Amino acid sequence: MKISINENISWVGKIDWDLKKFHGEEYSTHRGSSYNAYLVRDEKTALVDTVWGPFSDEFVDNLQSEIDLHKIDYIIANHAETDHSGALPELMRHIPDKPVYCTANGVKSLKGHYHQDWNFKVVKTGDRLSLGTKEFIFIEAPMLHWPDSMMEYLTGDAVLFSNDAFGQHIANEQIFNDQVVQSELYEEAIKYYANILTPFSSLVIKKINEVVGFNLPLHAICPSHGVIWRDNPLQIVHNYLRWADNYQENQITIIYDTMWNGTRKLAEVIAKGIMKSDAGVTVKIFNIARSDKNDVITEVFKSKAILLGSPTINKRFLSSIALIIDLMAGLKFKNKKAAAFGCYGWSGEAVKLMNEGLAEAGFAVLGDGLKNLWDPGEKQLAQAYAFGESFSSLRKQERSANETD
Ligand code: FEO
Repeated sequence: MKISINENISWVGKIDWDLKKFHGEEYSTHRGSSYNAYLVRDEKTALVDTVWGPFSDEFVDNLQSEIDLHKIDYIIANHAETDHSGALPELMRHIPDKPVYCTANGVKSLKGHYHQDWNFKVVKTGDRLSLGTKEFIFIEAPMLHWPDSMMEYLTGDAVLFSNDAFGQHIANEQIFNDQVVQSELYEEAIKYYANILTPFSSLVIKKINEVVGFNLPLHAICPSHGVIWRDNPLQIVHNYLRWADNYQENQITIIYDTMWNGTRKLAEVIAKGIMKSDAGVTVKIFNIARSDKNDVITEVFKSKAILLGSPTINKRFLSSIALIIDLMAGLKFKNKKAAAFGCYGWSGEAVKLMNEGLAEAGFAVLGDGLKNLWDPGEKQLAQAYAFGESFSSLRKQERSANETD
C-alpha cells in the first residue's frame, strides 16, 4: 500500500494492527503500530527506512508495484533496530550494490544484525545528499534512542524524517495526525516517551535545540512509527520539550501487590488520606500484578510522587514489585518523591527493602514508610489514612523547603 504525503513523498510502510507486544514482550502496543518507510522522488529517488523483518516480502512486493527497484538511487537506514531495517536483506537481494546511508554506528549495527557488507555510506550531522532540486541534511541523533539513530531534513519540502523520535505505536489506515482521535494519539505519544525516551531526556532537549537552531521551516515530521505530524508539527516538539524537562502533573500513583488483600486495603485508605490532605491531586491505584506495566510506567512518568506497597514474602517483597522497581531504575525518573507500605506477619522486611529500591531508582524517599502487622483492622486503617495525609503534607513541606532554598 502506498499513501501520498505530497506530490513527491510516498509512505510505503506497513500498518500492523495485530501487534500487541513490541521489543519482544517488553512493551504493550494495545493499538498496534506501523513501520513507516518513505519513498522520496526528485531527479534521484531515495528510500527512507524499511519495515520489520516478518513483512519483508510484502514490503518488497509493494515497493516493486510502486517503482522499479533499480530506479531507487539511495537507501537511507536511519536506525538498525530490526523494526526498521528488517526488510533490508530482502531488498538488497534485489539491488545489492545500491548505497546505504547510515551513521558509523549504523554500519556496526547493520553488519551485526545481517552480516552483510553492503555499500555503506557513512554520514555525520550536517552532511548533505542531493536528490536534484532538493537535498537531505543528515542529523545524527545518538541515544534517541540507540547509538546509531539519525534523522534527515528534506529541503524544499521542509520535512523532517525523525525515525523513532516523535513516534507512537498506533495502527491507523489514515496516517496523518489530524485524522486520528486526538486523545488516543496523546496517550500513545506520551507512553512512548515515558517508556522509551525518559532516560535520554537531557539529550532530547539538546538535540531539539540543535535542530531548532538551524532555523529551518518545518511542514511535516515523518516518524518511523504511527502518524505523520502535518497539522502543527511543532506540537509534538513542544510536548517533547515539556516531557524531557522532569515532567510531572498533579498526580500521586499508588502501586501495590497483595496476597490476601491486606496491602490492597492499605492502598485504598492511603489514597483517601492523600486526598484529604491535598484535595486537588489526582490519585490512581494499580495492582501491578494485574496491570499493564507500561501503562503504569506512563502513570509514574506523570506523577509527582508514588507509593509502593507489598507484603513481606520470603523476607523480601512480591516479584511484581521487583519488576516495576527495576523498570523504574532503568528509566531514571527524576524529581519524584516516594514511600513504601505493606503488611507483614512475621519478619517484615518488605517496606525497608522497597524504600531502598526506590532510593536506588532515583526517588526521594520520604520517611520510613508504613509497616502493618497482620491484616489491617479499624485502628490500623486509621493509621494508614493518617500515613496518606502525612505523606502528602511531607511532600508539600519538602517542596516549600526546596523553593525557599
Ligand atoms: Fe522503532 Fe528503535 O526502533
